[in-house]
Amino acid sequence: MALNFTPKNRNSRILAVGAYRPSRIIPNSHIVDRIESSDEWIRERSGIESRRFAGPDESVISMAEAACSQALTRSGILMTQVDAVIVATITYPFQTPSAATELIALLGNPKAAAFDISAACAGFCYGVGMASDLIRSGSANYVLVVGVEKLSDFTDPDDRGTAFIFADGAGAVIIGPSEAAGIGPTIWGSDATNRDAILMTPSWIDLKNPESLGWPDISMQGQTVFRWAVYQMAPIALEALTAAGLTPAMLDAFIPHQANMRIIDAMAKSMKLPETVAIARDVRVSGNTSAASVPIAMDSLLTDRPDLHGKTALIIGFGAGLVYAAQAIELPAASSNK
Ligand code: UT7
Repeated sequence: MALNFTPKNRNSRILAVGAYRPSRIIPNSHIVDRIESSDEWIRERSGIESRRFAGPDESVISMAEAACSQALTRSGILMTQVDAVIVATITYPFQTPSAATELIALLGNPKAAAFDISAACAGFCYGVGMASDLIRSGSANYVLVVGVEKLSDFTDPDDRGTAFIFADGAGAVIIGPSEAAGIGPTIWGSDATNRDAILMTPSWIDLKNPESLGWPDISMQGQTVFRWAVYQMAPIALEALTAAGLTPAMLDAFIPHQANMRIIDAMAKSMKLPETVAIARDVRVSGNTSAASVPIAMDSLLTDRPDLHGKTALIIGFGAGLVYAAQAIELPAASSNK
């Protein structure tokens, strides 16, 4: 027998964004000696000039808490009104319980639904899609989605392919119900044939072996990921726009995963974005913060360009798996980013 209830079938939108950037600013000059590189090479190949590394007193949880608190304050929603918290991270150093359950206790609502997702640099956009659908269906009214990474814990400072790219930080959004459509359909998927392109090894099991080669660090086949991102991700971004009934000419901002300035520029070119579209280029000063990069870049863009509040943006995350997710969104309203 069919169940006897009416699905909510309502819209959702991002009410506010918050970010936390660790206080330690690390210029390229602090990295180059150990990897036989140069400031010029890093700027030219990645667009990165500096990044933030968390200190010993800045953890995945403390950074997530700061970003969530800012998003909550800006939204005017109380933590006690939040039904679910989704944490996107690959650097919380415990397999279980989840980072989300540690976070809700600190934020003051230990009864909220809480779980982590492992979708690397796409994790935040995966979370936005899930939160939006939870709200649209009526399973939740308000959902916090936080992308947070302390990649400096899992990056080998002697690895030329990763030491200059990865960085730390947190970004969060609060998502709630809305009259108008504020989050478009999620276009998402994977390319598991390239699963080896970004890996964290050895495994926890390997670590139990006393002869283990050591700590799990991230390694990356940079060129494989670069080519995949440049050629495969622009069509996905355009698909997300079309799914939301938009064209590039109707877009105000493009906030892609902040992996590499050359990838950002190549995507914008391939999508034929008009010059009027503001492009988030936060990678220059934040590096690649994986799951945190899109919300941190969103926060930076709204700080630099307050006129973009309430305007239309496209967000897309892509990374280890390889996995990706993209949505068209309405950026949070002006009153929120104070
Ligand atoms: O966030 C998850 C998704 N991640 C990404 O989207 C990252 C995608 N990949 C990239 O952004 C780029 O591949 C990197 C920025 C990581 C590397 O840039 P690249 O242009 O792909 O460099 P490459 O690995 O092709 O190396 C080019 C040259 C090589 O020298 P030769 O063989 O041309 O003489 C390397 O040995 O640069 C050399 N090289 C370096 N030189 C100075 C490689 N790493 C370095 C280094 N410093 N750190």
